[in-house]
Amino acid sequence: MERTLLLHASQLVTASGFAAKKGKAMNDLTVIEDGAVLLEGETIAAVGTTKELLSRYGKEDLSLLDCSGKTVLPGFVDSHTHFVFGGYRADEFSWRLTGVPYMEIMERGGGIAATTIPTRAASQEELETLGEKRLASMLSQGVTTVEGKSGYGLDLETELKQLRVMRALSEKQPLTIVPTYMGAHAVPVEFQGDADAYITYMTETVLPQVASANLAEFCDVFCEKGVFGIGQSERLLLSAREQGLKLKLHADEIVPLGGAELAARLSAVSADHLLQVSDAGIKALAEKSVIATLLPATAFSLKEPYAPARKLIDSGCAVALATDLNPGSCFTGSIPLLIALATIYMGMSIEETVTALTLNGAAALDRADRIGSIDIGKQADLVILEYPSYTFLHYHFAMNLVEKVIKKGKIVFNKQILNNASV
Ligand code: NIG
Ligand code: FE
Repeated sequence: MERTLLLHASQLVTASGFAAKKGKAMNDLTVIEDGAVLLEGETIAAVGTTKELLSRYGKEDLSLLDCSGKTVLPGFVDSHTHFVFGGYRADEFSWRLTGVPYMEIMERGGGIAATTIPTRAASQEELETLGEKRLASMLSQGVTTVEGKSGYGLDLETELKQLRVMRALSEKQPLTIVPTYMGAHAVPVEFQGDADAYITYMTETVLPQVASANLAEFCDVFCEKGVFGIGQSERLLLSAREQGLKLKLHADEIVPLGGAELAARLSAVSADHLLQVSDAGIKALAEKSVIATLLPATAFSLKEPYAPARKLIDSGCAVALATDLNPGSCFTGSIPLLIALATIYMGMSIEETVTALTLNGAAALDRADRIGSIDIGKQADLVILEYPSYTFLHYHFAMNLVEKVIKKGKIVFNKQILNNASV
């Protein structure tokens, strides 16, 4: 088995833990100076100072990776994206900047419905090619696990195609992909004006196939005024849970509908967006330990007020941060932008931000026991920054500081090699 020792890291940020960190605990990162980590195959085998690990293991039979002047962190987890889609909607972006609201564009037949046309028309291979390119960009920014949603087909065939694309891409490239069925993204033209009938179609026709082919781990719904109401969302999610899927919600994004309260009532794994979450919703999320996944790049792109991150954390919630990469409300997968918005505009400390992007992101995918921190026994998914402290992540804002990415114990991205290759 291959054994690699990373040593002399200026800072080894372990973000140690096996469950989500809530409230004040989000500030606990556990930073080891002159840190070292031993990887055995795909797994983290030891963590400590360089001195400790060298005295215990020596250097013999180990590949050594010198991390002097660098920061080592757990791989980032982007726990909310819609990265499999066909076509683009650049025109809508321009309209929004002139003041046309997102929901108005959606009501006029733009928005999600507009992306279903090219997504239905695309072949599985075409979607794979597009998806692979997007994943490569994520990897270069330190993302080692990503969640991806269907929801741009809305019909049986295309929803299954999107999920199959994610399954195929899991085999082709290094990132772990966690697939979510999100047929309840919009009401398709075939069911216009009858969201209830569409819910029945999903629970009786689509979900059984998704579940029997094991194509998705989560089910998500756009619970929003004018899309799917509380009762409709609950009906879908209860059926999804019965069919073996775990639950997520797009909740309280545009209006305060009570999506957070529903997420808590159903013990969903996460409630996402939360720009308009109520005080009762915040309390319910904290009590039920539902991860509050915030997507600041979407608020930025829509020019909406940011989710109340401070209030959520101060009320004892576990907050995760994700990009929401999608062709409409948020066409970016930028981790540096996400960090800048969280720390500069949402009042999150850089420590809370790192927790939100690592351990709590893992918890939002129900994987905090396996990934999201540098702990013995966890999968060896690591990021090496080209600067000596994690504080550079916000100080050197909006810049990609990632030098190397290690996935399951292997270097899968190396900026130094790219740079040398280009001269
Ligand atoms: O998370 N809010 C709903 N769904 C996406 C937007 C999808 C789109 O506009 O294509 C979101 O923001
Ligand atoms: Fe989303």
